[in-house]
Amino acid sequence: MTGSTVLRARGLTRQYGRDTGLVRAVDEVDLDVPTGQVLAIMGPSGCGKSTLLHLLGGLQRPTDGEIWLADHRIDTMSERALARLRRQHIGFVFQSFHLMDELTAVENVELAALLAGQSPGRARKRAMHLLDRVGLADRARHLPSALSGGQRQRVAVARALSNDPLVVLADEPTGNLDSAATLEVLRLFEELRTAGQTLVVVTHDARIAAVADRVITMRDGAFADDSRLVNNATATGTVYGGWR
Ligand SMILES: Nc1ncnc2c1ncn2[C@@H]1O[C@H](COP(=O)(O)OP(=O)(O)O)[C@@H](O)[C@H]1O
Ligand SMILES: [Mg+2]
Repeated sequence: MTGSTVLRARGLTRQYGRDTGLVRAVDEVDLDVPTGQVLAIMGPSGCGKSTLLHLLGGLQRPTDGEIWLADHRIDTMSERALARLRRQHIGFVFQSFHLMDELTAVENVELAALLAGQSPGRARKRAMHLLDRVGLADRARHLPSALSGGQRQRVAVARALSNDPLVVLADEPTGNLDSAATLEVLRLFEELRTAGQTLVVVTHDARIAAVADRVITMRDGAFADDSRLVNNATATGTVYGGWR
C-alpha cells in the first residue's frame, strides 16, 4: 500500500448560500494524500478547514468536484453506500469528543465495530486492545464523565481506529484540551504516524503540526501553502504492525 494515494480530490468546491450571501468555503481544491502520510491543515477560523474535512470524509456533499477514498469515488455515491463506507473505512475524531455519556470507555470503542457488523466477542477484544494501545486499559469500564479531557480524546481516537480505517480525520482534536492533555494526544498521534496510519488533522496547534509530514495552510477556501517537513520524511511509509 505504501506509495499509493488514499485520498484524492479534484476541483473540490463547496458553496454555502447564494447570490450576494454566497460563500465559497472550499474553492477548487486539488489534494493527494499518500498512504501513511500525517497531514496537518492549518489556517484562520472560517477559512474552510472543517468543510474540507467533512467533504473528504463524506459527511458533507461537494457543490462541485470529485473525491476518491482509495478506489471509491465518494462524491457520487448514494447516502446508503456512503454511510457504509464511513463505517468501514474512515475514523473521525472531533473537538468535542462525541462520546456516548451512558457508555463506558470500552463500550464507546466497540460500538463502531458492532455497527460495522463485527461479532460482540471480537469487537470487545479489539476495543480492549485499542484502549491498551492508547494507554487506557485500566480505564476501560469508566464512564466518560470519570475521565479527564485528554483521556476522553484518547478514547475517541481508539474508537476512530476500531474499524482499522484507511484514514483518520481529526477536526481540532486538542481544541478543548489543556496543555498537558494536548501532549497526551500529541504523543498518541506520533505513535499513529510511526504505525503508518494515514491521518488528516485540522489544528491550530503548532505542536501537532510539528509531528506532521506535511502542513497545508488554507486561506479563503484554498491552499495558500503546502510544505512537506523534511525532518519527518524518513519515517514515512515505515512498516510497523503494532496497531493492527
Ligand atoms: N452550514 C453553513 N452554512 C453557511 N455557511 C457556512 C456553513 N458552515 C460553514 N460556513 C461558512 O463557510 C466558511 C468556512 O467554514 P469552516 O469550514 O467551518 O471553517 P474553519 O473550520 O476553517 O473555521 C465560513 O465562512 C463559514 O461561515
Ligand atoms: Mg472548523
